[in-house]
Amino acid sequence: MDSMGSLRRTHHCNELGSQQVGESVTLMGWVLRRRDHGGVIFIDLRDREGITQVVFNPEINPEVHAKAHRLRSEWVLGVEGKVEPRPGDMANPKLATGEIEVLVNELRILNTSETPPFPLDEESEVSDNLRLQYRYLDLRKPEMAQNLIMRHQAVQEIRSYLNDNGFLDIETPMLTKSTPEGARDYLVPSRVSAGKFYALPQSPQLFKQLLMMSGLDRYYQIVKCFRDEDLRADRQPEFTQIDMEMSFVDEEQIIEIVEGMIGRLFKATLDLDVAPPFARISYDEAMGRFGTDRPDTRFGLELIDLTEIAAACEFKVFRGAADSGGTVRAINAKGCATFTRKELDDLTEFAIQFGAKGLAWVKIKEGGEWQSPIAKFFSDEEKAKIAEALGAETGDLLFFGADRLSIVFQVLGELRVELARRLELLDKAVFNFVWVTDFPLVEYDEKEKRYQALHHPFTAPREDDVEKLESDPGAVYSRAYDLVLNGTEIGGGSIRVHDSEVQKRVLSALSISSEEADEKFGFLLKALEYGAPPHGGIAFGLDRLLMIITGNDSIRNVIAFPKTQKASCPLTDAPSPVARRQLTELHLRPDWKE
Ligand code: AMO
Ligand code: AMP
Repeated sequence: MDSMGSLRRTHHCNELGSQQVGESVTLMGWVLRRRDHGGVIFIDLRDREGITQVVFNPEINPEVHAKAHRLRSEWVLGVEGKVEPRPGDMANPKLATGEIEVLVNELRILNTSETPPFPLDEESEVSDNLRLQYRYLDLRKPEMAQNLIMRHQAVQEIRSYLNDNGFLDIETPMLTKSTPEGARDYLVPSRVSAGKFYALPQSPQLFKQLLMMSGLDRYYQIVKCFRDEDLRADRQPEFTQIDMEMSFVDEEQIIEIVEGMIGRLFKATLDLDVAPPFARISYDEAMGRFGTDRPDTRFGLELIDLTEIAAACEFKVFRGAADSGGTVRAINAKGCATFTRKELDDLTEFAIQFGAKGLAWVKIKEGGEWQSPIAKFFSDEEKAKIAEALGAETGDLLFFGADRLSIVFQVLGELRVELARRLELLDKAVFNFVWVTDFPLVEYDEKEKRYQALHHPFTAPREDDVEKLESDPGAVYSRAYDLVLNGTEIGGGSIRVHDSEVQKRVLSALSISSEEADEKFGFLLKALEYGAPPHGGIAFGLDRLLMIITGNDSIRNVIAFPKTQKASCPLTDAPSPVARRQLTELHLRPDWKE
């Protein structure tokens, strides 16, 4: 192994081009690939920024060439040499430095390396677990480094925008009290107060509202949040929010500020004009047309309501759903009558996963004839009505859902996206933003037999609806808004309640007793009595935004050290057992076996 000696880096591995030909340069980096051609050794040297081809020629510098023979993947090098043009047809237009190579005069081997457990220079089937176990190697991959560089740029841009717009970056506690965002808390036992626990914040919601009550006017924070919930591709147990709150504003002003921020972000990262103002859709319309409150509007395949036609038909599944207060809705998959039996069975299986009892389908043949297991239950007139409602033509494939409204929305909403996936309609180069507005304030929880906040309990009801809080809470609309990008909820927020009386009424509509409210967030209720300004805000999922910007399918690829599906870290082995003494200090007496 050599020291760096007097070598000092002059360039990164992405910087050299034909302008530098003839210059003497020094690069530092890792051996990505090595090729030997008729005695000449070529190394692709990689650093954070890119790749440069360095060359060892036995005829020009036999000593250095002999040393280069030892080099293996991921060894760490410092090289000094001369920039030369690559001979004619050897240029590589795919590489930023593809026009040149560096002919090495001095080679210093700064470190050797074990053979990596997976190749870093190609797409290969590597288990996520292995990638996370060797995350420091995984992050050497140029595309992974690029994700983190992009994330850094995004954060700088957002900070700069918010700073320019009068927001103060203020930190809020990590050891705190449970915040009611609806997930399970991560708890931290107190050593000093036996039997008591902190919760890690699910969001800074209550603190940012308190900051408005303190008169700080505009707050933001790029902040870790913790939620112990079931994990998916777009959900991590700890994730990052761009969290903001403003005083003396209504929803239009918040939306305008935020659209400006998203505009700046996409310009800075992708050099793209996303052209606010973004489309808006009410919650009811989103559910009706897309079966979800996070509609992907890059493609059609919208839901059509057939309940009325179904109520009059003979097919007992449809009629039963209509008669019992449910619904029948359908999707026309244009031109998909070519789907095979196996594909239809797979899709039925898919629908059943989301709670369907089955998935009726119809293929429209020549002359409008129906090919379907349910064709026999419908008169020609009913078939014609259904075909008309769905705009069905020869070659189309129709899918039906008949059940309670919530199930049909869930099933057809998911089916719609699955069809788009299979039909390759999910274009990653298209960015469709849509604000979802006019949410109901609460939804009825069948299991708990009570109303739950659709967002959180501090969301303001629409002024005209306040009087219905007691008489008909289900009919109260809120002043909440979500921003959805390509079917992913990237942000959500609301105007908050700033009147303590209204806040008490909202809590009571949620069946939260005043004792429970006092115990959980009495501090906020008290603060509301000391001159709270009208205020509102929003929080964005930074990881989700970056996932979409970088064209990834999982937020893990834009987080340096993410967790697995089981919320564990294969690199550090967290969570891990602790000494019994530590538990005793925390006043915990476990009854599990060691
Ligand atoms: P909400 O719960 O909608 O609102 O969270 C805001 C945004 O955070 C992202 N997000 C997540 N990202 C990754 N993994 C998770 N587990 C996860 N959970 C949420 C989503 C979401 O839109 N306090 C309110 C905001 C407010 O009212 O101002 C809140 O936390 O992109
Ligand atoms: P069955 O009469 O139960 O054999 O169902 C006939 C067809 O209707 C089958 O293709 C089922 O998959 C479908 N089906 C059954 N229940 C439902 C439902 N609730 N919604 C939509 N399709 C259904």
